[in-house]
Amino acid sequence: MAETTLSVDSMIEALRAAEQAARSALSEATQSPDAAAEIEALRVRFLGKKGEVSAVLREMGRLAGDERPKVGQVANQVRDGIAEAIVAAQTAAEEAAERRELSAPPLDVTLPARGQWLGRRHPVSSVWEELVGIFSRLGFEVASGPEVEGDTYNFEALCMPADHPARDMQDTFYIEAGVPPEAVVPQGREAPKAGRPLLRTHTSPVQIRSMLAAGQPPVRVICPGKVYRRDSDLTHTPMFHQIEGLWVDEGVTMAHLKGTLERFAVEFFGEDAKVRLRPSYFPFTEPSAEVDISCSLCGGGGCRTCSGTGWIEVLGAGMVDPGVLEQAGIDPERFTGFAFGMGIDRLAMLKHRITDLRTLFENDQRFLRQF
Ligand code: DAH
Repeated sequence: MAETTLSVDSMIEALRAAEQAARSALSEATQSPDAAAEIEALRVRFLGKKGEVSAVLREMGRLAGDERPKVGQVANQVRDGIAEAIVAAQTAAEEAAERRELSAPPLDVTLPARGQWLGRRHPVSSVWEELVGIFSRLGFEVASGPEVEGDTYNFEALCMPADHPARDMQDTFYIEAGVPPEAVVPQGREAPKAGRPLLRTHTSPVQIRSMLAAGQPPVRVICPGKVYRRDSDLTHTPMFHQIEGLWVDEGVTMAHLKGTLERFAVEFFGEDAKVRLRPSYFPFTEPSAEVDISCSLCGGGGCRTCSGTGWIEVLGAGMVDPGVLEQAGIDPERFTGFAFGMGIDRLAMLKHRITDLRTLFENDQRFLRQF
C-alpha cells in the first residue's frame, strides 16, 4: 500500500512540475521573434501524444483502481492549465510582434527604387510566336510531332528512300535509345511503323503525321519545332528551329502557295516585301521552288546581307508530291496540296540583323537583353 501511495504523490508532483515548467517556458517564448513556432513546439512537448503529461498518464495503469481518479483529476487540471497558458502566450506574442512592428523605423518612401531585372522573350521564341500568329490568321492550325522520329516518317514517307542522295544533305543523328511513337490514325486504319530512330532532320515528317491523323483533307497546318543535324559553324547549329506549312484540299494550287507566302512576307517583313519563286528540287514536292523575299535591309537595291542581289532566300516550298499524298493515305487524283518549310532562327537573324547564328543559343545575357 505504501508503495502505491508514494506513486500517487510522485505522479501528482510530476504533473505539477510539468505545469510549472510549461508556464515558465511559455512566458519566455512570448518574447522571442519566432514566438509562434516556439509556442507550438512547447504545446507538442507538454500536451502532445508523446508529451510530458501523457507520459505521466501512461503510468496510471500501475495504480490501484481507487487511486486513479486522484491522479486523473490533477492531470485534467494541469492539461487545462497548460492549454490556457498556451492561448495566453499566443495572444501576448501577437501583441508583442505588433508593438515591435509599430516601433520599427518607418518606411522611407523617398528612397530611390531598386532596379528590377525584367525577363524578356528570346528572339527565337518571339519570331516563333509571330509566325504562329500570322499563319493562324490565314487559317492554319498548329500541329506538332516528336523530335525523336523514325526514318519512315522523316525520310521514306517523304519520298526519300535509303539510297536517295538527298539524305546526305541532311546529316542525320541516328540514335540507339528512344522509340519514336507511331502516327495517330483514325480508328480502323493502320499506322506505318516508325522505323529506325533518329533526331528529326526537318519538320516535314509532321506533314505525314498530320495527314495520317486527319484521315481525309482538308489539312491545313503549320508545324513549328526543333530539328537536328550534324552541322556546326557560323551559320549552322546542331539544333535549330523550323516551321513547316501544309495545305491539302481539293483544288489547292501553286497560286494559293504564292498568295500565302506573299501575305506572310508582308506581315513579317513589312508592307513593301516582295516574293519570288525560283524552280528548285525537293524529293517531296513537285514542282518545287526556292522562295526569295526582297531584302528588307536595302529595300531590294543590293547590300551585303543579300550579296548585292536584292533578294534573300528564305524558304523551300512546292506542290506536295502525289507519292507523298499516297503514302499518307490521301487520293492524289482528287486532292492536291502545297507545302513549305523555313528556318525560324534564320528569320530571327534577318529581322534583328544578327550575324552569328550561335549567339542565339549561348544565352549570353548581354546579347539577349537587346531584344
Ligand atoms: N524539309 C526541307 C528542309 O529541311 C525544307 C522544305 C522544303 C520543306 C520544301 C517543305 C518544302 O515543306 O515543300 O530542307
